[in-house]
Amino acid sequence: VPMRFSGVWRFHELLPFAPHDKIVTVGEGQTLLQQADEVAKYVGVNPGQLHLQYEGMNPSGSFKDNGMCAAVTHAGMMEAKRAACASTGNTSASLALYCSATRAMKAVIFIGSGKISYGKLSQALDYGALTIQIAGDFDDAMIRVKEIAKELGIYLVNSVNPFRLEGQKTIMFRVLEALRWEVPDWIVVPGGNLGNSSAFGKAFSELYQHGLIDRIPRLAVINARGANTLYELVQNHGVRWNGGDVSMTSITQYNDAMDRDGKRADTIASAIEINRPVNLNKCLRALEVMDGVVREVDDQQILDAKAQVGAGGFGCEPASAASVAGTKLLRSEGVIAPSDRVVCILTGHELKDPTATVAYHTSDKELFDKTLGSRGVTEAGFANR
Ligand code: F0G
Repeated sequence: VPMRFSGVWRFHELLPFAPHDKIVTVGEGQTLLQQADEVAKYVGVNPGQLHLQYEGMNPSGSFKDNGMCAAVTHAGMMEAKRAACASTGNTSASLALYCSATRAMKAVIFIGSGKISYGKLSQALDYGALTIQIAGDFDDAMIRVKEIAKELGIYLVNSVNPFRLEGQKTIMFRVLEALRWEVPDWIVVPGGNLGNSSAFGKAFSELYQHGLIDRIPRLAVINARGANTLYELVQNHGVRWNGGDVSMTSITQYNDAMDRDGKRADTIASAIEINRPVNLNKCLRALEVMDGVVREVDDQQILDAKAQVGAGGFGCEPASAASVAGTKLLRSEGVIAPSDRVVCILTGHELKDPTATVAYHTSDKELFDKTLGSRGVTEAGFANR
């Protein structure tokens, strides 16, 4: 696929690490910013002001392809033969796709056992990745993959990898392009490992430094309540960017307390079921640069918002809908004004995680209770009303 058909590499000048002849692309980033008036009504902003950046339309079905084409390009420059990641499913699907596309690299994937939707698992398997389930969750898998990658010299593509974030900056370039370079008031994004929020902060600070924009939008990062480390740290422990010192006492104390209490991430939005985000510090920086806020939403709010996105003519996986649920919350608090122009990032495709969707809309009470009732979700979807 020629570079000009990539929504990432056509911004090559703004991520200049890769020589042209080394670039890996499968046509990622051909995604659109959509005006969503039905969803605007639901969240309470004026018609015409709510936009959804539909990243589920990427080749592997999530925003990850924006960063993975860059990481795999760099892995190729390093002549890597194997590339590894821990994943809740989308990073692994994306890595597996790019490795199979290069035909020169083997993907090695670590996932928490039972912590991945079948849609995402099937992608990794179908693209021929070596897929290893480990006992534990994403946070455990992340520790393991870092150790093993170091020991065996395997190229690591989790968003600790800076080249991933370079590619993910282009999501914001495309948003601005669609808005004719009129800077919106808010960018709202689900927060998991905090790669996107970090990349967006970097994108806007660079565009501002280059004089390509004259102001920077505000950032809202939305955690799922069952995976809310960023929210807890920023909102309840007053943690702020401090120049990059990762050993900040309040973070260390918070992590130690999670260990002591055996606290584990738990949300229906499995993509963001993460309690030890690897990009925490970069995200704190992004929050500073973009005058950001952090909120949490529960599984009920996420699924309700997701159903509105679907009924509004779009569709996304549960984690993505945290952005819409978070916008509704910030609107109700008066932090977002009705006249603000808001861009929510829909990070993953509807078909990535159908189990939650079917359970939410089903009239089968047993299925509803088993999948959602046990998580405190009480209200079911449109199909039941
Ligand atoms: N939305 C979806 C659909 C995701 O898959 C992820 C992360 C996020 C949001 C959170 O983005 O990490 O940049 O804050 N998924 C990773 C994975 C962890 O392994 O696929 P983030």
